[in-house]
Amino acid sequence: MKVMVTGGAGFIGANFLNLLVPRLPEHQFVNVDKLTYAANLGSLQAVEQLPNYMLRRVDITDMEAVDAVFDEVEPELVVHFAAESHVDRSILGPREFIHTNIEGTFNLLEACRKRWPADAGALFHHVSTDEVYGSLGETGKFHETTAYDPSSPYSASKAASDHIVRAYHRTYGLPVKITNCSNNYGPMQFPEKLIPLMILNALERKSLPIYGKGLNVRDWLYVEDHCEAIWSVIERGEIGRTYNIGGDSEKRNIDVVDTLCEVVADETGSDVGELLRLKELVTDRPGHDLRYAIDATRIRQECGWEPKETFDTGIRKTVKWYLSNEDWVRDVRSGEYRKWIDLNYGDRTT
Ligand code: NAD
Ligand code: TYD
Repeated sequence: MKVMVTGGAGFIGANFLNLLVPRLPEHQFVNVDKLTYAANLGSLQAVEQLPNYMLRRVDITDMEAVDAVFDEVEPELVVHFAAESHVDRSILGPREFIHTNIEGTFNLLEACRKRWPADAGALFHHVSTDEVYGSLGETGKFHETTAYDPSSPYSASKAASDHIVRAYHRTYGLPVKITNCSNNYGPMQFPEKLIPLMILNALERKSLPIYGKGLNVRDWLYVEDHCEAIWSVIERGEIGRTYNIGGDSEKRNIDVVDTLCEVVADETGSDVGELLRLKELVTDRPGHDLRYAIDATRIRQECGWEPKETFDTGIRKTVKWYLSNEDWVRDVRSGEYRKWIDLNYGDRTT
């Protein structure tokens, strides 16, 4: 089978390719990625020499380029990861989010609709987020039937893309599946996101900036568990159906940062008290969702998926990965990264 993976040089896409390209030599994988600041080809070193892997640098907002790569690859499966993905960036500059996440998804759907006959057995798998559901209060969980209520430009753009994907199924019969997953962490995550940012700042004895009081709750899932979940839906999920993915691992941000300090101290033989003193409460994110939690009953029952990692095992693996991949870290922390840190955190601390 010819598989087009969009955004395969980003965090989750690269983990997906690293897992599946060696495991499925009978499938041909083509990574379609614009290579934005969030991409890192260093994440793909293990697969780039394999005969069933190819990279094409394509911006999915460019319909001509999308058509050309579809004509070349003739994919039977599209796994769509490509997106602008960072909430804080969407607050400071929403335009790219609207452009890539909505128009880019639309272009891919058009390319599929033009090419796939009704009986082709093809599939468009749309990778989305639980943030489309908005915020939970102290109790309850997101179900596949929960009404969409996104808070940030990022989550609103993902919500819009989910609706368009669903509309293409209902209107044109395009074979689609959608997964909405909770927060991921693990190797190769760009250090603008909470977990890698805190690991690297702790290692360098920089401040650990916690928004508000650190009481917001996220439901954390190890990235490889997310990738396996997506593959299980591709293999066993029903066409036109949505599946929530989550690890039953709700944590307050402040507790996540404490755990990271403990694991970093343990792995590096440093004083945990010194790391904990780096914590700093800073100005909150506007529209900051209080709590996310996923009910993953449907994917567990219908696709037989179960996460393999607990938060404790996954966090230790993640810290070890950042400790032993200094070159990767150095490469991503380019001038662009430093500009982002200044822009996002410059006015936050008092
Ligand atoms: P990421 O920001 O690490 O990577 C995004 C990738 O998309 C990059 O390689 C980038 O170059 C590429 N890209 C961006 N704009 C593009 C464009 N116009 N054309 C082609 N490629 C483009 O993101 P991620 O964390 O790996 O997330 C991947 C997907 O999973 C996203 O759709 C995101 O909404 C979804 N998701 C992420 C999480 C999470 O916790 N990170 C959770 C649930 C769902
Ligand atoms: P993030 O990793 O940006 O993921 P998302 O916003 O998609 O959930 O943030 C996770 C949580 O951590 C979120 O509640 C915001 C918080 N956070 C901080 O407290 N400090 C930070 O520097 C960052 C980046 C996030």
